Amino acid sequence: MTLTILFAVPALWEEFSPALRRALQDADVQADLVTNAAPETVDYIVYAPASPLQDFTPYTRCKAVLNLWAGVERIVGNQTLTQPLCRMVDPGLTEGMVEWVVGHTLRHHLGMDRHIVNPAQDWDATCPPLARTRPVTILGMGALGSACAQALAALNFPVTGWSRTPKTLPGIDTLHGDHGLTKALARAAILITLLPKTPDTEELLNADRLARLPPGAVILNPGRGALIDDDALIAALNAHQIGHATLDVFRIEPLPQDHPFWTHPRVTVTPHIAADTRPDSAARVIAQNILRGEAGQPFVHLVDRTLGY
Ligand code: NDP
Ligand code: OXD
Repeated sequence: MTLTILFAVPALWEEFSPALRRALQDADVQADLVTNAAPETVDYIVYAPASPLQDFTPYTRCKAVLNLWAGVERIVGNQTLTQPLCRMVDPGLTEGMVEWVVGHTLRHHLGMDRHIVNPAQDWDATCPPLARTRPVTILGMGALGSACAQALAALNFPVTGWSRTPKTLPGIDTLHGDHGLTKALARAAILITLLPKTPDTEELLNADRLARLPPGAVILNPGRGALIDDDALIAALNAHQIGHATLDVFRIEPLPQDHPFWTHPRVTVTPHIAADTRPDSAARVIAQNILRGEAGQPFVHLVDRTLGY
């Protein structure tokens, strides 16, 4: 039987369709990959929040909606979406996130800015400490957080990971729950937030929690803007409670021109480029999930709608 796979993000068709066609063929999935089809004939939907498709009700035969992005906060609330929803766990995206996180961690750990921009031509021969003395905490130990944790631990950073449920990860001190969060924050010379945006994580980093970090701690946020209370962060930066914040994600994107993050001397803004879904590897993930669906196996990377991720 030939499946009908609706690619519901026309703006991404050119970028993704060749890789998807190849991956479906390699996986021996007989399918028509299309941008338009009668809803009742569609077997799978490849999706992203920017899609014009917002009403899933007529897609009565659809077995799963396969999201191209890792974050699903803009989709989980759609009441018409009753089909299984899978988020993207893409090895290429993970690799990119590890590179961004390791790069920005090393920037702060090694004090690179001091030497790169040195207008006073100071001969400051203070050697940076070793990574083994710089504790890093990662909030969120999912696909991305755990990969970053392992990469940083391989460089000898003492890494603590915090998640909702208990975890075991070699070489990582894993904590969970409220008490675990307090401990994880208290030891974070560098704090990395890789949580999804859900009702439980919104403004998790409020004034009270920012105050629990060691003075001068650095924050890297490639997770979601809403994880941090912006005003509390600016106040903590101004009070030198936070040494620097490197932010990739924001409540409103692009970050509005008049937002104080743009001009704060100890904030670095990157334009949501920490990691991208890579067509070749992501297409293989989608093809494998369709194969699973056709074989009657449970889908991988299923979103739990009550948890929101
Ligand atoms: P996962 O779903 O694999 O992991 C999420 C992690 O967060 C899990 O460890 C989960 O805990 C934890 N978590 C969720 N809710 C809570 C809570 N209330 N308390 C404590 N821990 C919680 O997601 P990914 O790792 O794939 O992605 C994480 C986020 O990264 C995405 O949701 C997205 O927002 C962001 N992202 C950003 C990109 C960028 O370019 N800036 C690119 C891609 C993703 P548990 O393990 O117990 O379930
Ligand atoms: C994602 C993202 O969720 O790019 O994949 O932020």
